[in-house]
Amino acid sequence: AGVRCYKWDVKYEFKSPDCYKKLAITINRKTSGPTILARQGDTVIVEVTNGLVTENLVIHWHRIRQPGTYLYHAHYGMQREAGLYGSIRVLLPDGVAEPFTYDYDRSIILNDWYHASTYEQAAGLSSIPFVWVEEPQSLLIQGKGKFDCSKLATPSSDPTACNTTNPECSPYVMTVVPGKTYRLRISSVTALSALGFQTEGHNMTIVEADGHYVEPIVVQNLFIYSGETYSVLIKIDQEPSRNYWITTNIVGRDATATTPPGLAILNYYPNHPKRVPPTDPPAGPIWNDTAPRLAQSVAIKARQGYVHTPPPKSDRVIVLLNTQNKIDGYTRWSVNNVSFTLPHTPYLTALKENLHHVFDQHPPPDRLHDFATYDIYRVVNNTNATSSNAIYRLKFNSTVDIILQNANTMTVNNSETHPWHLHGHDFWVLGYGTGKFDAENDPKNPPLRFVADNPGVWAFHCHIESHFYMGMGVVFEEGVEKVGKLPSEIMGCGETKAFKRP
Ligand code: C2O
Ligand code: CU
Repeated sequence: AGVRCYKWDVKYEFKSPDCYKKLAITINRKTSGPTILARQGDTVIVEVTNGLVTENLVIHWHRIRQPGTYLYHAHYGMQREAGLYGSIRVLLPDGVAEPFTYDYDRSIILNDWYHASTYEQAAGLSSIPFVWVEEPQSLLIQGKGKFDCSKLATPSSDPTACNTTNPECSPYVMTVVPGKTYRLRISSVTALSALGFQTEGHNMTIVEADGHYVEPIVVQNLFIYSGETYSVLIKIDQEPSRNYWITTNIVGRDATATTPPGLAILNYYPNHPKRVPPTDPPAGPIWNDTAPRLAQSVAIKARQGYVHTPPPKSDRVIVLLNTQNKIDGYTRWSVNNVSFTLPHTPYLTALKENLHHVFDQHPPPDRLHDFATYDIYRVVNNTNATSSNAIYRLKFNSTVDIILQNANTMTVNNSETHPWHLHGHDFWVLGYGTGKFDAENDPKNPPLRFVADNPGVWAFHCHIESHFYMGMGVVFEEGVEKVGKLPSEIMGCGETKAFKRP
């Protein structure tokens, strides 16, 4: 195993990824940032210089457990949306083979892109009246999109403000050699959107999902939610005299009138990379047809020979009911009537240094007291939701089951899609279903199981940036006493200043 060093300069710069100029956060002058390449067992050292001037910076290594395809992104306020993200590729140790073959490997990150700043959006979300972020202006494929500048509400006199001939927003081109097989490592860091992804005329075989090998499934369209990564294999076997479209479309929300599809070019070598494909881009899936989306999730199974069997039973069952509430007139998301807020002092330091007063010490409920009779189809009418920074404390090495229950939002017949993401653990998905989970009659088939074997404090949250900002998350703690001495470099926030040794 070796050591790989990266040096990153993070700062704000004007960028035009979809032709519209806006302030974006860059790493070494780019958004998306550099790809981290490492072999399993390597130590990766990233030396980050925060040049954001007035902002803190937290980088989250989204799901690093074994070889596979992962992400990193900002995890402070809504910074991820401003462009701080990139891919991580963990290679197998020498001499270990993958269960499939391909000739070349490419990473593609998908994102949605807003012209409003994250500050404007955050202010709207925490205002009365509430101002929703609405649909994104563009979809980016590998950091590139195209906004139709003629749609600008207030045209600018600055010729660089929106310019469709700016090379920064020329579509991403993936050049491929006919006859070869490519592994596309596709990930999504969207702020809001669930996406469909297609390579025109080419089937895709899903072989990896979130860093785990899966039984191959052939699809024409890949559904991907924020925070997910997939590897698909595509064979370059179509008519070679032309180029093809790579497309991404919003599903799950009606963005047909607001957000055009993201487009990139699959360039068959030796055709000119800028030659526009002669056909129209393939249409995306119907946005409100949930059946094919559920079918993909259900079809994904661990690959034979790579199956890790879950513990047969759990020690604790936590039923998390997601609701949208009003708290003191503010629109919030809540879990078991608790809307999550972050304390000023980081949990890990607070727990290690016994600072009991810096966050609420009463754990949130494992289940809403009236869950059994709770009607998920009614529009929420509760005034008893509270904001809290309390956490769930788990017994170290215990097995925990989580049931995620959706309910109507404050609009009738609308429950939304929430891509939940668990820090620090792999988990087993043991079941899915529609309607209400029957806790009494179906305890043997819990949706999600994990083992609390990673000492620390871990977030579990909806990966939709604005939902998490509005309180849709919880925090788990386990084995914090096993975490070694905290480095003094991480001290400084809230009441930890006192622990900053010179
Ligand atoms: Cu990729 Cu806490 O998120
Ligand atoms: Cu959500």
